[in-house]
Amino acid sequence: MSSPLVSKVTFEHHHDGFGLGYSRPRLSWRFTTSENPLSGWKQTAYEVEVEWLSPKRPTETFSVESDESTLVPWPAEPLSSRGRAAVRVRVRGRGNEEYGASQETSSEWSPPSIVEAGLLERDDWAASFIAADSEPSSSVGDDDELAPHPLRFRKEFKIDASVFSSGSRACLYITGLGVLKAYINGHRTSDEEMAPGWTSYHHRLNYRVHDVTDLLKARETNVIVVEVAQGWYAGRLGFDGGTRFNYGKDLGVLAQLEISNDGEEPQPWRLCTDTTWAVKRSPIRSSSIYDGEGDASLEWTQPVQENNGQSGWESTRELPWPGGELVAPDAAPVRVVQTIDAVSIFQSTSGKTIVDFGQNLVGKVQVQEIDIPKDREVTLKHAEVMEDGELGTRPLRLAKATDTVMSAGKPLHQWSPEFTFHGFRYVQVDGLTDSDSPLPAKENFKALVMHTDLKPRGEFTCSEETVNQLYRNIRWSMKGNFLSIPTDCPQRDERLGWTGDIQIFCPTANFLYDSTGMLKDWLQDLKAEQMEYDDFIPPFIVPSIPTPGWPHMPAAVWDDVLILTPYALYESSGDRAILERHFESMRGWLDRGIRRDTTDGLWDQGHWQLGDWLDPKAPADDPAGGVTDDVLVADAYLVHITTVFADACKVLGKTEEHAKYAQQAAQLKEAFQHKYITPAGNLMSNTQTGIAIAVRFGLYRDARDLETARSRLEKLVRRAGFNIATGFVGTPAILGALTSVGRSQLAYRMLLEKTCPSWLYPVTMGATTVWERWDSMLPDGSINPGSMTSFNHYALGAVAEWLHATVGGISAAPNSGWRRILVRPVPGGSITSAAVSFDGPYGLVRCEWRLEGVKFTVKLVVPPNSSAEVTLPSEQSQQGAGDGTSCRVVGSGTHHFTCDFDPGEWPPKPIIAPHREAPTKDVA
Ligand code: BGC
Repeated sequence: MSSPLVSKVTFEHHHDGFGLGYSRPRLSWRFTTSENPLSGWKQTAYEVEVEWLSPKRPTETFSVESDESTLVPWPAEPLSSRGRAAVRVRVRGRGNEEYGASQETSSEWSPPSIVEAGLLERDDWAASFIAADSEPSSSVGDDDELAPHPLRFRKEFKIDASVFSSGSRACLYITGLGVLKAYINGHRTSDEEMAPGWTSYHHRLNYRVHDVTDLLKARETNVIVVEVAQGWYAGRLGFDGGTRFNYGKDLGVLAQLEISNDGEEPQPWRLCTDTTWAVKRSPIRSSSIYDGEGDASLEWTQPVQENNGQSGWESTRELPWPGGELVAPDAAPVRVVQTIDAVSIFQSTSGKTIVDFGQNLVGKVQVQEIDIPKDREVTLKHAEVMEDGELGTRPLRLAKATDTVMSAGKPLHQWSPEFTFHGFRYVQVDGLTDSDSPLPAKENFKALVMHTDLKPRGEFTCSEETVNQLYRNIRWSMKGNFLSIPTDCPQRDERLGWTGDIQIFCPTANFLYDSTGMLKDWLQDLKAEQMEYDDFIPPFIVPSIPTPGWPHMPAAVWDDVLILTPYALYESSGDRAILERHFESMRGWLDRGIRRDTTDGLWDQGHWQLGDWLDPKAPADDPAGGVTDDVLVADAYLVHITTVFADACKVLGKTEEHAKYAQQAAQLKEAFQHKYITPAGNLMSNTQTGIAIAVRFGLYRDARDLETARSRLEKLVRRAGFNIATGFVGTPAILGALTSVGRSQLAYRMLLEKTCPSWLYPVTMGATTVWERWDSMLPDGSINPGSMTSFNHYALGAVAEWLHATVGGISAAPNSGWRRILVRPVPGGSITSAAVSFDGPYGLVRCEWRLEGVKFTVKLVVPPNSSAEVTLPSEQSQQGAGDGTSCRVVGSGTHHFTCDFDPGEWPPKPIIAPHREAPTKDVA
């Protein structure tokens, strides 16, 4: 009798188990998938083998009777700092009796995973943070007088053969104040970009561990060089000119190189940053996240080994240990994850050379192999769009987004900037050739795509190509805005961790990529910065920086990230510890942060709110001024977050708190109904957004109210000619609300609308990412006049949640972390087939359907140790999506279902004034 194959063990939400910040990491494994996973297979027990590699100890095996396969407790002695072990797991379980699999069987051992702890205690650090003693005075010029010049720290050292021999391991523990790259003997010690990433440095500073065993040489002189630029630490951040030196002025480095011999008690040989290190100016003349990088005239190469005693090296000084804690992040580092070829090179209207990469992306250009006459300055200016035949740089506001290289008369060889990134599709290249020379070949340019190296896990396709393009755009906007922190946009003088944006997009993000580790890390900053204030109100952006015009004040939707994002992570991972960690932060926001009306406990009516931010009717210069009452939006969210918090209390077994907040939620809901819903069920703001969130958050009183909501929403949608009328708040809710009130054809009709505003309008305009505004580019090809106009914002892409759960048909059942899958596809519109997959905590879930006439067939793959509740479209109640009552439950395996289904009127008709002609419509 066969058993499933078990994947490698993973540790906590850590990306690879190396340099872990835990002594007792929880373990998870998944079941590798095949087209035909075992039928109805459930785990009954597991065995974990821990082979201790360092310090060497006898291998241990632990047997546990448990059906859990995610985040199970570390079974052995805690790992010590630098402790290393190989961990394998094998499982026992049984499949469906009906398939003759009632007997328990054991799997093979999983392939081993290496786990290695980082430096877990402060005392493990013998190194000191160092900075330049005084501003180094080398010949390298300065492009930006105000910014600290990028620095290069250096140390030579020799290692005895007795210390470093075969079997030795060398690890570099490293972080810095700024952004850095380290080199040993001329070779990069890792492929990280923008290390150590952006955290709330006052509270938390990431360090990483690099295995540098292969870079060292025994008995010879070795050289370690660490190059540091200002990055987020000292660079200009924020709009309207922003502020510099948000964390400090001194660029610094902390590095500890250790050599140990496996199996021995670690008493490592060490080389630590201290004042014996030297420093000088980097040949990079200036480096800024917003403005770009200026390279030196003389040195093209990366910091290769330099001769001992070479001039220009100056002394360093120790810096005090920073106030924040050094942390080993769970998230993977930022890396170059993809390389893209240029699709064309052409001349702008005014004769400038423009390279087009065919994709709006985030990263940097790599110039391949090109000769440039000596002392020629070449600039690369980046932008997302073209306007009037020229680079459209206005949306970048005060970000110059320009890299400069000065030719040394040697060919440029795979040159790219080191410590910056841009959001761009087009690059204007000046100075490369004389104006009358032919254009350089497009092969001279590649784009290096950078983001936090997340594991992809969700996919969706359907028979409608424009929707597939929308989906690709959503993925690209996630890629572009998950660079160390979740940002609003990646191109202009902002790129900040706006809390509302990620609150809205988080469920989609978790489906597309496994972002648990990265968002869990970011949430620690959110909490730390919230806790700086007695009133439990978090900053609008995290990590926080001064934001003139945005005082410390509470705001619904944005600050509600405190409750909704930890809960969304819990929902997709099943990790209760996330809720535990954020419990006080969530409660503090509810009890102390929200500015309430004393009469009913809802929001203070007079308080300014961002509301349904960027509703298409909001004036270009007042994105909060949409048509839906902003306090109604805030109050709907308040009822919702109170309910979610009550659920969190329940999950955590906090019975009293659960009762208290469940009651509070019920009272608030009643107050909401009293305040906003007429006896006939009309909502005060009977708008697409108002009704959508009231439906989604279950705020109506009864079926009669819902009937009113359904007919009002239907009228609004038809009356709007199926154009979207929602902003950040209504967008993730509108299609789900239409589906759940039994009007899925209207939802499809909105999805497939192509005129502006709609999801597909940008696709028709050639968009390759999701835009900030529905009309970031106007139909005539000009850029929206609003000063806040990005072409790469993920919030409106939250519609992917509906694509996954309703078009594709899969979502996680509440409180199950994907152990229980809801399968509820609802076909419609002109879409005749769809396929969605999610490579989740238990393995691959996949649902593919086809509708031929009224014959609906679906193939479903459920991974071992999980189950699915399947509701076929014909079984969805008239009121809308299945409520679970008429579903069937299936275990792991491949399942086929079929039913007859007629999605109804298509295309639905708009409501048009009798004296008007029907507007020209374009529907996919
Ligand atoms: C950002 C948004 C953000 C908003 C809030 C903008 O500048 O780009 O996405 O949520 O400000 O005010």
